[in-house]
Amino acid sequence: MKKATVILDKDFVISKIDDKVFGSFVEPLGRCIYHGIYEPGHPKADANGFRGDVLEVTKPLNLTLNRFPGGNYTSTYRWEDSIGPKEQRPRRVEVAWYCIETNEFGINEFVDWSRLNGSGIMMTVNLCTRGVLDAMYALEYCNFPKGTYWSDLRIAHGYPQPHGIKYWCLTNEIDGPWQVGHTTGTAYGMLAREASRGMKRVDKSIKTVLAGSSNPGMSTYPSFDAAALEESYDDIDYLSIHHYLSNTKNDTANYLAKPLATDQFFKDTISTIDYVKAKLRSKHQVNISFDEYNTWHGVSETDEQRHPADKLWAVAPALLEDVYTQEDTVTLGGMLITILRHVDRIEIACISELVNCISHIRTSNGGGVWVLPPYYAYLHFSKYGRGVSLAALIDSPKYDSADFTGVPYLDAAAVLADNGDLAIFAINRNLTESLPLELKLRGFSGYKVEEHIIVESANPKDTNTEQEPDKVKPHSGGNAAIDDGVVSATLPKLSWNVIRLKKM
Ligand code: AHR
Repeated sequence: MKKATVILDKDFVISKIDDKVFGSFVEPLGRCIYHGIYEPGHPKADANGFRGDVLEVTKPLNLTLNRFPGGNYTSTYRWEDSIGPKEQRPRRVEVAWYCIETNEFGINEFVDWSRLNGSGIMMTVNLCTRGVLDAMYALEYCNFPKGTYWSDLRIAHGYPQPHGIKYWCLTNEIDGPWQVGHTTGTAYGMLAREASRGMKRVDKSIKTVLAGSSNPGMSTYPSFDAAALEESYDDIDYLSIHHYLSNTKNDTANYLAKPLATDQFFKDTISTIDYVKAKLRSKHQVNISFDEYNTWHGVSETDEQRHPADKLWAVAPALLEDVYTQEDTVTLGGMLITILRHVDRIEIACISELVNCISHIRTSNGGGVWVLPPYYAYLHFSKYGRGVSLAALIDSPKYDSADFTGVPYLDAAAVLADNGDLAIFAINRNLTESLPLELKLRGFSGYKVEEHIIVESANPKDTNTEQEPDKVKPHSGGNAAIDDGVVSATLPKLSWNVIRLKKM
């Protein structure tokens, strides 16, 4: 196939990458928490019930931020059900996922687990069915030092130090008719503004996140976002958007192109934010919190499909556990590259979710843990994606798919680390042929190829299982070479690549 070329110039800086871009999301949904990160009695669980084997695969992701507890879960969330002595916590019907919530794992357990995992926390409050005051109480419980009803209760629960949670989502996807409390952009914007103002009176150090559209396909996108922003722009700090990509029609070439829709979603959302900023003559800058994204094939399932009788009103049933394969590695890789291209406006990003549900980390109840192929793309993104994002000028052979024309086989992004090392992330969307790559470096000298990591597989649907956990895993056998400032490499068919250049 014709080669693809990339020009990388040291001065083509997009932005310093915010550490909060390396986040994830933990929702009490299915087996994400229960039998995921938490399973008392499991042979590898500690005294708190936190599974050590799961921590062994979450820790290397070096997550800076973890969003909790929702998600759809928050639309009827009563945060105070989940604090205090476990035996006194109420069991509740949880209507987002038609489960029974035991509340065994709550805010304080999440704080403890996050500390163990080394990640920060972003909390979501339930505004639309609980209101402003309830959100202020939740914040007071978590962050107020002492001497008030809620802060003293936290202390009585064994947490003398405030949790110091800085990032607060003002509810979740309330543009969606599937939410209890669903409302209009204007009504929600007014509520979110008052919540943000009230919460910032309790703790002025916090940052708040306005819930924008749950996906770009919503008929109310982007007017919902604009209306909500118009009511709240100067009082909130981020606009949350979500995007999941699926291959429901089993058209892989089209599926691989879908990160182009994510790219457009970012551009349109940035325009929406900036339109409102201009309209309000505001000096304040709102940026994006992309706090749910991933590939998810069951995203459009109905409640009936998702909750057959044996999963209805169960405690921690297996829900949303798609099998993710190599083609998901490359589509997710495309999303990660797209995020890097927009880090001048995306300051928070949370892959959704961390364990079992829509996740690349799988557990069996009482048994083992294994990772699915896309896990590695995210691992590399987090490991080598810290520093400054550089614009990559790409010229690639292209193809047309059902929904997209002129899809480049190559997509790529580059990150310059503080120590001068360069990481080039690249995908080859071609399902049958490898792609020759020529990468011209401008303004960089004295580099050697440290490693060319590849995640590839014989078949697009190859994956890992508990019995065969290493069927798809990264290898460092790529052929990248550098000569006189030009890197040449072959990107295997349907592959995720990281070319690491070391400053000598
Ligand atoms: O992550 C699963 C669900 O997807 C979340 O609860 C919701 O916010 C989104 O629709």
